[in-house]
Amino acid sequence: MSIKILICDDEQITLDNIAYILQKEGYTTVTSLTGKEALELLQKDNYDLLITDLKLPDIDGIEVLKRCKELHPATEVIIITAYATINTAVHAMKEGAYHYLTKPFKIEELRILVKKALEKSALKKEVHSLRQQLEEKNKSSVQLIGSSPKIIALKETISQIALLDTTVLITGETGTGKEVVARMIHALSPRSKEKFLAINCSIFSESLLASELFGYEAGAFTGAHRAKPGLLEIANQGTVLFDEIGDMPLTTQAKLLRVLQEKKVMRVGGTKEIDLDVRILAATNKILSYEVEQGSFRQDLYYRLNVITIEVPPLRERKEDIPLLVHHFLKQLQPDKELKISDRALGRLMQYDFPGNVRELKNIIERSIALCHADTIDVGHLPPDLRQNPESVILPIEESEPRHFVPLAEHERQYILKVLEMTKGNKTKAAKILGIDRVSLWRKLKKYDCDI
Ligand SMILES: Nc1ncnc2c1ncn2[C@@H]1O[C@H](COP(=O)(O)OP(=O)(O)OP(=O)(O)O)[C@@H](O)[C@H]1O
Ligand SMILES: [Mg+2]
Repeated sequence: MSIKILICDDEQITLDNIAYILQKEGYTTVTSLTGKEALELLQKDNYDLLITDLKLPDIDGIEVLKRCKELHPATEVIIITAYATINTAVHAMKEGAYHYLTKPFKIEELRILVKKALEKSALKKEVHSLRQQLEEKNKSSVQLIGSSPKIIALKETISQIALLDTTVLITGETGTGKEVVARMIHALSPRSKEKFLAINCSIFSESLLASELFGYEAGAFTGAHRAKPGLLEIANQGTVLFDEIGDMPLTTQAKLLRVLQEKKVMRVGGTKEIDLDVRILAATNKILSYEVEQGSFRQDLYYRLNVITIEVPPLRERKEDIPLLVHHFLKQLQPDKELKISDRALGRLMQYDFPGNVRELKNIIERSIALCHADTIDVGHLPPDLRQNPESVILPIEESEPRHFVPLAEHERQYILKVLEMTKGNKTKAAKILGIDRVSLWRKLKKYDCDI
């Protein structure tokens, strides 16, 4: 593909000269005598380089530069000026110009500058495409780790419903992996080659959410300088996840329902309907039926979304997945290092209830990695809450649930620590209370890896 350069200058002679020089270098050139026309050309097409005069009859060259940077951040811009004051040049550079040329300039000067600017823009594009590839790779490596019966059943459901095109409502506590489930549904579906977009309904204001979803036409509201397609339009043919759908404002809910029924969208301020073919997934940690009762969620939309519901179980109901998840996160977060975890630390994690579910587990592992300078994560690297056993372990047995049972040695360790706390670290006193001698206490502390 040849390199395309847009040149904008109000003097026909200058335009022709520059175009001639650059064509001889093998570049394709497009010329424009006005700023307005240059902007139109930039809207329609992507150029590798823009060369523009600073003083144009209609729009300021700086304005053309700014819009170009907005539309195509990788495109470099060279400014030409006959009024070479340092100020304007510096201003242009601040707005992102690659460099400037003062009229009259030498052919060689132009050639070199163009070559350098193009090199820079090629590099930018390469970085951009590498970044995109990396994102794609991350996306394709979406994994739902777990071998508990609940996760196996979940995976089975996912692979079955992925092939259908129905709407799916994914529910579950915070951090259980609802987005992971949504990404898997997309990855296993016939739409997998198309886009997957997740939109968090809770972070936008009502009007912003509508314009993000449906897009807008230029002039639809103050600040809408140019038309912007909505996320639904961008994701056409692909999958859209409405995350935190329970937080979607009622008016947006009504609009979304219409889109789902009619399979068409209209940009805000627009008149044209755009055919829509997207698969809709929705996720929430709220109980939507309750929200419907409360009047904060539309019943008709609820029925529409609730064709199939997938419930992602909390981590405390599938504790057998914890070791697998821990090893997965250790590898994922520290790919170059073979970090291990001690049985005792893993034991603590198995006893913990994880109100924040898998996300909390991931955060704990991340924190432990940061604190651990050896090759094995141990109890001391866990957050304070987990270093000590939860209070529930010393409850009378009949009040404990089976998952709270802990080894006797653990009780002993806890008890010793409690007594030491009481005696403010005085070991002689502690040994007396415990009914053992100082050496035995010392041995026990060493055995349980406590600070001596
Ligand atoms: N089964 C799993 N296997 C691997 N990683 C997981 C699993 N479940 C969750 N995760 C990881 O845990 C984190 C939280 O998952 P995710 O964002 O999907 O949760 P969520 O249910 O959407 O949370 P929220 O309710 O807060 O939106 C992510 O980093 C995700 O990659
Ligand atoms: Mg989520």
